[in-house]
Formats: sequence, structure tokens, C-alpha cells
Amino acid sequence: MTEELSDYIAQFLAGLKADGYLSDPLWKKAFGAVPRHVFLPSFFLSLPDGRWQAIDTTHPAYWRMVYSNTTLTTQLDGAVGPDPDDGTLSGTPTSSSTQPGLMALMLDSLRLSGGELVLEIGTGTGYNAALLAHRVGAPNVTSVEVDPGVAKLARQRLSSLGDWPSVVTTDGERGWRDNGPYDRLIATVSVPAVPPAWLAQVRDGGLIVVSLWRDLGGGPLVRLEVNGGSAQGFFLAEAGSFMPVRAANRVPTALSMALKQTGTSRQNRRPSTVLHHPDAGLWLALRVQNVNWLGFTPDGGNEQVWLFAPDGSWAVVDDIAGQVEQFGPPALWNEVETVYDRWREMGAPSRDRLGLTVTSTGEHRIWLDNPDAVVWNDASAPVAGISAP
Ligand SMILES: C[S@@+](CC[C@H](N)C(=O)[O-])C[C@H]1O[C@@H](n2cnc3c(N)ncnc32)[C@H](O)[C@@H]1O
Repeated sequence: MTEELSDYIAQFLAGLKADGYLSDPLWKKAFGAVPRHVFLPSFFLSLPDGRWQAIDTTHPAYWRMVYSNTTLTTQLDGAVGPDPDDGTLSGTPTSSSTQPGLMALMLDSLRLSGGELVLEIGTGTGYNAALLAHRVGAPNVTSVEVDPGVAKLARQRLSSLGDWPSVVTTDGERGWRDNGPYDRLIATVSVPAVPPAWLAQVRDGGLIVVSLWRDLGGGPLVRLEVNGGSAQGFFLAEAGSFMPVRAANRVPTALSMALKQTGTSRQNRRPSTVLHHPDAGLWLALRVQNVNWLGFTPDGGNEQVWLFAPDGSWAVVDDIAGQVEQFGPPALWNEVETVYDRWREMGAPSRDRLGLTVTSTGEHRIWLDNPDAVVWNDASAPVAGISAP
């Protein structure tokens, strides 16, 4: 290792420590030993206008960026890899190397002691799989990736480091039974609902760490313990967002259509910032489903926050004017305010007091403090059970 590279890595570790990560010396050792740059010979830099510019090792910012606490995008629109000769591009990220602080948080929450069998969903660059392999041994790690091209590159990069975990090309929502049952399952891609297949592939007492995909965001990271075919556990105190599995339907943000319609206006009872509240934001994202949002500032106007539902209903909140305009039904901002009020009535609980039970039939129950105190049955789950309050 050159002196310059070891300086970058030392600063990287110090930065992660200063941000509150890597308190476990074994994870610090792993992040120090596994070189992130091997998995990111090139990546996309996001530009202020929302476009992307690919950079590689010849770019002056390359090393600083690779060894920073930043998510680095490595594929757009399910096909386009980073090539500095392509100029600037537009597109939606479909593969990336996750923000290292979030990786450290999730890895730590797996509570590994060494030697566990681990299944990772979403290989991406392979960097997280390499960290896991460093900690529990490469033969104990299986990683699955849906995109064959992404999986091939990850295999090449992992194998360049010596012993490498098994990388399987398949749809991660089906899991991978062959090397199980696993002691741990970690998903670095978010899922609308925890797939029943995962519950069957993790042994009793094993842990699943996953983020749930919700269009409103909220960063729902949850750790579940599997027992007797179902799983339950608390949401983590920290938020963490991932791109959704490729099959997930993202709710489109149809601003141009909405601008042609007139809705009904009233004073807003709550500001749009409730959507990003660290605790209420989780309740809202879990409870107000299939609603996407977008920030927009018209020329010479106030900042606005728009909400959209797939049936064409929308709401626009202008916090400066204290107004909301809505087109529906449903009245989307009324729903947000009702859920927010409910969260307040329940004592404004912190996000880590919420828990999730996933049954073997795929039912998802959200509870407060203990699994018997169900506050709602999650709508994205396939089986209806307990009615919402
Ligand atoms: C945020 S990246 C994962 C980061 C990765 N763990 C790393 O260390 O670089 C998410 C990955 O999940 C993959 N993915 C999306 N849908 C998937 C699915 N249904 N099954 C498996 N992988 C999927 C994407 O192709 C992408 O490579």
C-alpha cells in the first residue's frame, strides 16, 4: 500500500469514527483492511443540475471521494455503467456502493461474533460482501445480485482480493436456499415487504437486517429475529435509505399533469417538514403508502412540497403561505395530518419504539413497544388481518 493510500484510509476511518461509527474494533479493522477503491474503479459524480458525470482514477477528486462517507453510484437505468468518455448523462441510479457509515451501522447491527453463515441481498460492487467475508470468512458469505453484469464485475473484483464469497445471480426476493440455513440475512437493497422466502432460509434465532421501501422515505431500517417461521423486532434508531428492488413500482411524480389542474385550498395545519421528522417521518412513510413526494420552487414563487398518488390525486404544501391545495379524493395532505396527529396522540414515540412482526404468510404488523400492542396492519403486506385504528 502506498503512503498516500494509507493516509486516505486512515482519514476515512477517523471520519467514520468521528461520525459515531466503527465503535467495534473488529469492524474498524475490516474497513481498514478491505480497499473500497478496488470495487469502484469508476463511478458517477452527481452534478448540481441533477445530471451525472463518470469519473475514474485520473480525476483529481477520485481518491478523496472513494474514501469518504458517501454513496457512489455505479449504474444508471439498469444498463449504463460509468465511462468518463460518455460526458454528462441523466438517469436513475440502479446500482451503487452504499454510504460507508450506513454500511457500518447495518453490519454492526447484525451482531456477528465470527463464523456465522450470512446471506447478503444486493451484491452491487461487492464491497459489503468483502467486508462480511473479512469478518466471518469468505466461504460463509453468499451474496445475490439480480443484474448479471453487476454480479460479474463484483465477482472479478472480489476474486482479485484472494478468497471470495459466492456471488449468485438471482432475484434476491426469492433468497438463496442452497448455502443455508443462514444465521444472518442483510439486504442492501430495500423491499416493499419482507419476502416469506427469507423467513424460511434463516435459522431460528437468526437475524434479518433490512430496509423497507416506502415512497415517502422515512428510512425504515429494521432488525428481525426469526423464530418458528415468523420474525419480529424493532426499527433501528437510525434511518437508512436504499434503492428499491428492481421489481418495485415507484409512484410517479407527475408534476406537469398536476400543474394543469385546480384543487381545493385550505390552511395547512402541519408544515411539510413533518415528512422529514426523525420519528414522525417513519410513521408517515409506513402509514401513508403509495404516495411519493417532490420539492419544487416555481420561478419567483415559494418553495413547495408536492405529494402524488398513482390514481392522479395530488397535494401541494406551501409552508411560507401556510396553505395546502389538494386534488382528489383522496385528500393526501389530510391523510398526512391525520397520521401525524395520531403519532402525537400516542405520545410522539421515538422511531425505535416501533416494531414489526412478519408472519409466515407474509402479514406485516406494526406495533409499539411490544408485539401485542399492534397499532396497524401494514397495507403493503399481502394478507389482511388486524384492522387499522
Ligand atoms: C445499493 S446496491 C448494493 C450495494 C452493495 N451491497 C455494495 O456493497 O456495493 C443495490 C443492489 O441491489 C441490486 N438489486 C436490485 N433488485 C434486486 C433483486 N431483486 N435481487 C437482488 N439484487 C437486486 C441492484 O442491482 C444493486 O446492485
